[in-house]
Amino acid sequence: MDTCNRGPLTGPAETMAGAPALRLERLSKSFAGVPAVSQATLEVRRGELFSLLGASGCGKTTLLRLIAGLETPDAGRVIIDGVDMTDRPPYERPVNTVFQSYALFPHMSVAGNIAFGLRQERLGKAEIRDRVRAMLELVQMADVGERRPHQLSGGQRQRVALARSLAKLPKVLLLDEPLAALDRKLREQTQIELINIQAKTGITFILVTHDQDEAMSMSTRIAVMAAARIVQIGRPEEIYEAPASRLVADFVGRVNLVDGEVLACESGMAVIRAADGSGELRVRHGTVLMPGAQVWVAVRPERLVIGDAPPTDGVNRGHGTVSEIAYFGDMTVYHLASPAGRRVRLTVANAARGAVALPRRGETMAYYWAPDSGVVLTQ
Ligand SMILES: Nc1ncnc2c1ncn2[C@@H]1O[C@H](COP(=O)(O)OP(=O)(O)O)[C@@H](O)[C@H]1O
Ligand SMILES: [Mg+2]
Repeated sequence: MDTCNRGPLTGPAETMAGAPALRLERLSKSFAGVPAVSQATLEVRRGELFSLLGASGCGKTTLLRLIAGLETPDAGRVIIDGVDMTDRPPYERPVNTVFQSYALFPHMSVAGNIAFGLRQERLGKAEIRDRVRAMLELVQMADVGERRPHQLSGGQRQRVALARSLAKLPKVLLLDEPLAALDRKLREQTQIELINIQAKTGITFILVTHDQDEAMSMSTRIAVMAAARIVQIGRPEEIYEAPASRLVADFVGRVNLVDGEVLACESGMAVIRAADGSGELRVRHGTVLMPGAQVWVAVRPERLVIGDAPPTDGVNRGHGTVSEIAYFGDMTVYHLASPAGRRVRLTVANAARGAVALPRRGETMAYYWAPDSGVVLTQ
């Protein structure tokens, strides 16, 4: 995952002046009175690889179709490259969509599939030929241009679909779960290819996915959706390290959540009494919390450190009985039952194997975590 995480937006597109590639203003759409997208507001900069992340049914495809003009919103605006496109039909919008089902023309060659849309636009023969060749090279398919779709693997077909959509040089490319049908290895490889293609073309990508790892590793920024709403927008590390709510913390990665009450909050340090009677927790927190407020403390499993001898004072400590151990090759996940009956999840990178004697099932395990390893959530 780290290999392709680009962090903040970099690259040539960043320096381009002008309007954002896409702006949505309070965009809403219901089906038979049930909201599929509710008040979606967001701005995507040019050259971003922006993801819409959320569980199945939360409204991602509907939002993409609203951007493409394939659905008419009940309210709100769609502004693409500074132009209000809300009332424009799909074919007048400078966007193209790659769907999960590749929808290639089976009777046409790979090159024919890519050329199809360009012929419709009545481009000249030479220009079409050059563009098709460039696109085939871009997706590393130059040697199979004459094949038919059925002679290709799933991954290759998806690359043709991508090339076909990119050939028209859209301002914004919409991708609806484009990798969902690929097996894990091929998916990871194609994720990296997609990032490279996006960087080479500078075209703004909006990627729909329900796969948090995919969104985390590929995106410049992510909009997390739940029940028709955008619940948080941020860079992958912001979403992961500073989730805005329990819902986001729980959906993006694994998290230990403890509910409690704020006892004090001074110079950025919150003291919280755990509701299960397990004691007080100290969490470094950016904003002021009122004593008495009901909150949740969220700590990622990899932030818990095994041991009972923390190197510094003022850290949070806990212990529990190991109830489950799951080995994942690169890491091991421990489930503990705390004395208060809470389930605690802790991960250990296996690079550290052998360095400490790891507990076995049924044994007691002590752990600690630093105040700046947790976050306080108020909703
Ligand atoms: N054409 C439609 N008619 C009726 N309901 C729809 C239609 N399209 C989507 N929905 C409903 O809208 C909600 C969001 O669907 P969708 O946007 O496809 O979610 P996602 O892509 O996140 O899985 C779902 O409850 C779905 O059943
Ligand atoms: Mg969908």
